[in-house]
Amino acid sequence: MEQLKIIGGTPLTGEVRISGAKNAVLPILAATLLVPGETIIDNVPRLRDVHTFIKVLNAMGAKAAFTGEHQVTVDATDITNPEAPYELVKTMRASILVLGPLLARFGQGRVSLPGGCAIGARPVDQHIKGMQALGAHINIHEGYIEARGKLRGARFIMDVTTVTGTENLLMAAVLAEGTTILDAAACEPEVSDLAHCLNAMGAKISGIGTTTLTIEGVRALKPARYATLPDRIETGTHLIAAAITGGEITTRHTRADLLEAVLEKLEAAGALVERGPDYIRLDQRGRPLHAVSIRTAPFPAFPTDMQAQIMALNTVAQGTATVIETIFENRFMHVPELARMGADIAIEGHTATVRGVAKLSGAPVMATDLRASACLVLAALAAEGETTIDRIYHLDRGYDAIEKKLGAVGANIRRVRAEESL
Ligand code: EPU
Repeated sequence: MEQLKIIGGTPLTGEVRISGAKNAVLPILAATLLVPGETIIDNVPRLRDVHTFIKVLNAMGAKAAFTGEHQVTVDATDITNPEAPYELVKTMRASILVLGPLLARFGQGRVSLPGGCAIGARPVDQHIKGMQALGAHINIHEGYIEARGKLRGARFIMDVTTVTGTENLLMAAVLAEGTTILDAAACEPEVSDLAHCLNAMGAKISGIGTTTLTIEGVRALKPARYATLPDRIETGTHLIAAAITGGEITTRHTRADLLEAVLEKLEAAGALVERGPDYIRLDQRGRPLHAVSIRTAPFPAFPTDMQAQIMALNTVAQGTATVIETIFENRFMHVPELARMGADIAIEGHTATVRGVAKLSGAPVMATDLRASACLVLAALAAEGETTIDRIYHLDRGYDAIEKKLGAVGANIRRVRAEESL
């Protein structure tokens, strides 16, 4: 098992190249199942979840592999086994995204039901109801969702705004007969990126970026080459790394419009933020950090995937902040770990009240999920002394070479095997 060892206290300075977005590339990989022939995806981050998704595709008979440092090619001409098995789904919930495309192209698909996870129960009822609205017959059998049927366009109003639910239904609808209207759809940038990719393959989706998506079914799609949009969460995480250490970082190959809600909070916290055409620069040198309250909500509001990181910032800011989590019911697992480093945080229901302290101190801590891990890295960068973060496999699911990127801007961070630390 690997760990990260971080000695805090150094202001970070320099440039970081932002990778493609995890949560955009996963649905785009699923979308390759809609098309016979070779789809090429560029700007693909090298993440554990991407490797797992490639395994899911290959287990079905596709030929998927990295064909460049940041390029994946998928040939989904022959799909012999339209199924995502439990062994893979249990390691990555996003595998559920194959159900929509399998049903659309082959009239059948079988995917293990994902269970709950560290951040909440995370049901998939909206995925299922939406597919039923399109005419699919769904059976839950031995822990698997089995879907069958020829899909017809329909109107579906989601009860809950769901990102992967919207993506799954978009992919189901592109080959359905007639027109589908998805209402109360998620409008996260990653949903739009998938929709643009599907249109590049010949789909007819309009209303992209809004909560009403209209999909005119087409008979077939054609292979395309598509570059994934930048990762807004990786961008925000690195900007907070500069803010929390009183440093200055330029994130490159990214876009400010993907994370305005986060940038505005960082400005309210006292940072100087410069928005360029393909970069964002944050300067916190000589500027005190002020506590900032946030409430997570669907895009364009403050993202739940940045909640843990802004919490880390608040632990060492001047004043008191409230952090309200409205998307997931159990996304405060980082709080007891931050407390081990000296943070002052009280939780009541979905609200955490964070009172800034003068200093955090390094401690052994445990990562519990992806963004909680990122929060602990940030706290460790600001803390006095050494922090050891255990279970960093969570971090590797969503951050491409984080210790290399942070090391290059001056962080004292290294990856070790657990034995070395004994
Ligand atoms: N929900 C339902 N029924 C459904 C689907 C969702 O009740 O059928 C609920 C969930 O339980 C949750 C809320 O709706 O309370 C929103 O969940 P959503 O479905 O939008 O989340 P997701 O699609 O499973 C994606 C990202 C998450 C991110 C959320 C919210 C991917 C692969 N994952 O998950 O990313 O937090 O949207 O923006 O796109 C991460 O990257 O660390 C991560 C967890």
